[in-house]
Amino acid sequence: GHLYLSRELTDGAMAAVRSLGVPVVVHDDPDRPPAREQLLADVRGASALITLLTERVDGEVLDAAGSDLRIVANCAVGYDNVDVAAARARGVVVTNTPGVLDEATADVAFGLVLATSRRLVEADRFVRSGADWIWGPRLFVGLDVSAGATLGIVGLGRIGMAVARRAAAFGMRILATGSRATSDEAAGYGVEAADLDRLLAESDVVTLHCPLTPETRHLIGAEQLAAMKPTALLVNTARGPIVDEAALADALARGVIAGAGLDVYEDEPRVHPGLLGRDDVVLLPHIASAGEATRDAMGRLAVENVRAVLAGEPPRTPVG
Ligand code: GLV
Ligand code: GLV
Repeated sequence: GHLYLSRELTDGAMAAVRSLGVPVVVHDDPDRPPAREQLLADVRGASALITLLTERVDGEVLDAAGSDLRIVANCAVGYDNVDVAAARARGVVVTNTPGVLDEATADVAFGLVLATSRRLVEADRFVRSGADWIWGPRLFVGLDVSAGATLGIVGLGRIGMAVARRAAAFGMRILATGSRATSDEAAGYGVEAADLDRLLAESDVVTLHCPLTPETRHLIGAEQLAAMKPTALLVNTARGPIVDEAALADALARGVIAGAGLDVYEDEPRVHPGLLGRDDVVLLPHIASAGEATRDAMGRLAVENVRAVLAGEPPRTPVG
């Protein structure tokens, strides 16, 4: 069967695809994911799928592909869009792309920490608006990040650790949840392990780096937002549904917390209307891993996983 790609990848990754020497079907619109019916039709008879977070890969897709299917290589570190149990039940390997996007994602997470705390995007809009401005001691005063602010990292894994390294360089106090919060590496960045309640209560900025699972869906809801400081900021570069977005919009409107920086949304690409008009919110279109070299590395790793499985070798980065 063929290798199906739900979107064209980077030039480097597409060159790796061609070197596999298998028939390839690439979804023909580079800007939009395939419609469901198109996806179901194009996977028919495939041996391998390279999918993105925009595709829901469930039992129906796996059955549409049929019994030749050996691997679903999701080109993302998150794989909440793939029904891993359904794949396992059909003997289909699922892989993701961990490790190669940690730095790129941490850069954008930390960019959102800086943008929200120092009001950078709001200030840019202000200058562009043609406002009559002059330097002033109270103009766009925001939260001091360096030397003293506390960053709460929810889910200290590979990406969270890369964020911790940046926060340490900025002189921040760091609290973190997650199994690696007590590791030597974390201790080296001055990370203090904390449970979620303490992290929420003591952090000036809370940044999310856990995967989306049934356990983390709406991990941050009305109750958790109320537990944060009224001056606190929330940053999410993980997955939208980890935050109850309606509760977030409501908390911002009522001054329960002071702002948010979001790269991901609960019902992506839709953004809660309560967030769109707010100056204390920075909104990005899910671009945290969108570094040039990073996207190439993600694509190449997905292709390498396909190569390995089709050759009967163990894949580099299986999930589950
Ligand atoms: C992007 O969101 C990813 O999971 O890689
Ligand atoms: C600000 O521009 C200063 O010089 O303090």
